[in-house]
Amino acid sequence: MAALKKLLYYYNTRKSIKYGTNVLILLYFFAIIHIFFIRYKGDNIDPSQKYVLVWKRYHLIDVNQKHELLPNLGCRVNKCIFTEDKDLLGGDYTRFDAIIFTESFLKLGDKLKLPERRSPSQIYIFSTLESSYYYPACDVRYDDFFNWTNTHRLDSDVQWPYFVVRNASRHIVAPRQDVHWQVYNAKIPIPVAIRNIFRGRKKAAAWLVSHCNADNSRDDYMTRLQEHLYHFAIHIDVYGSCSNVRCTNDNCAEMLRKDYHFYMAFENSFSEDYVTEKVLHGYDNYVVPIVYGGANYTRFLPPGSYLNARKLHPYNLAYKMHEAIKDPEKYNDFFRWTNYYTLNSPETLPGLHPLCDLCEALHSERARRPRLLPQFRRWWNGRKGLQWCLPFQYWNETSVLRVDRRHLIDMY
Ligand SMILES: *[C@@H]1O[C@H](CO)[C@@H](O)[C@H](O)[C@H]1NC(C)=O
Ligand SMILES: *[C@@H]1O[C@H](CO)[C@@H](O)[C@H](O)[C@H]1NC(C)=O
Ligand SMILES: *[C@@H]1O[C@H](CO)[C@@H](O)[C@H](O)[C@H]1NC(C)=O
Ligand SMILES: *[C@@H]1O[C@H](CO)[C@@H](O)[C@H](O)[C@H]1NC(C)=O
Repeated sequence: MAALKKLLYYYNTRKSIKYGTNVLILLYFFAIIHIFFIRYKGDNIDPSQKYVLVWKRYHLIDVNQKHELLPNLGCRVNKCIFTEDKDLLGGDYTRFDAIIFTESFLKLGDKLKLPERRSPSQIYIFSTLESSYYYPACDVRYDDFFNWTNTHRLDSDVQWPYFVVRNASRHIVAPRQDVHWQVYNAKIPIPVAIRNIFRGRKKAAAWLVSHCNADNSRDDYMTRLQEHLYHFAIHIDVYGSCSNVRCTNDNCAEMLRKDYHFYMAFENSFSEDYVTEKVLHGYDNYVVPIVYGGANYTRFLPPGSYLNARKLHPYNLAYKMHEAIKDPEKYNDFFRWTNYYTLNSPETLPGLHPLCDLCEALHSERARRPRLLPQFRRWWNGRKGLQWCLPFQYWNETSVLRVDRRHLIDMY
């Protein structure tokens, strides 16, 4: 604005007419250079790279860096450029090989801003770690929109797991739909270094929770469990913003490792295949996780390494906890997995970063085979269909729906 005023000033000042014209010529010159530069950049596409645009913010890409180049991540296939910069390829986003849409895209509602142009060879990817319960897909425009899914769901086109289980030869064995667990040899002892970690623990179980009163009744279950534990003279200590109790020395990992037999890894929704990094707090610290969620945990966690609250009456769970705390041999058995498996977050392992998997898929044969997801909402929202898109008075996650189901089917 100031520049424009200055320009007008020069125009209006007779003495400076010549000067003003010079400024205009200079501006024109810069404009030409600018256009040329954009063109040049646009045509300078490296055909060996896959260019991936992120439609809105994506936590896997460092905003300060703008582009995420794969060489830093140790991927096997690393010729991909991930960016949030729509103008990277000469301002024409249809030239990107793929566009990533994250869960925030599902929350836009009326403000939903779809790309205006689309090239048929471009792959639209839905990518998230969030649950469909908190991020349902409601708008009809999501059907026939995505080509690939990249989520924690095991039936995603490209899986993005919260954690991976690897066997002794470092192959990923889980999470997998067709998981094959090794039969443990009970004669192989648990390594002494690990036994030393869990020896001498005094407390029963800890629950670290910040999302109070989640809709899947986990708090109700916990209340009933506490009542039964009371009869065995043990209890669950609750930490975090729901109880306002902080971990000892503000170091939850160290506290778990030192003091606790069990760790309550209760998910906040029953969404399909939704097993989050919570379980790792247990495995990382050799504390037995007690899980509660919508997944078939056989596909996620080594057998015998956890207790599943969703499959046990609170009384039976309380009894099992009591039994294991009383009997070191029984407690020891929870750690048979340590002779066979390791569990890690893939983001911390070289070559297993989620962007590596996406890059490899984009370079693979299947990226050349057209594919679209005609009923994305049905897939993502799951069995319960679109009920999560209805106002809350019609339903909650534990009750049956209070509207005629046929109306829901019609909504697709
Ligand atoms: C690990 O899993 C892979 C793939 O399932 C298998 O080929 C390999 O033999 C396994 N290694 C061990 C040590 O069990
Ligand atoms: C859970 O997953 C395992 C492994 O894929 C499978 O054998 C089992 O039938 C599944 N259980 C249910 C209840 O679906
Ligand atoms: C992606 O899906 C769209 C429509 O949903 C389709 O027109 C396009 O051919 C698909 N592209 C690829 C590469 O599969
Ligand atoms: C869910 O609905 C049932 C019955 O419809 C009700 O008893 C229960 O309190 C509701 N739960 C929540 C968390 O609103």
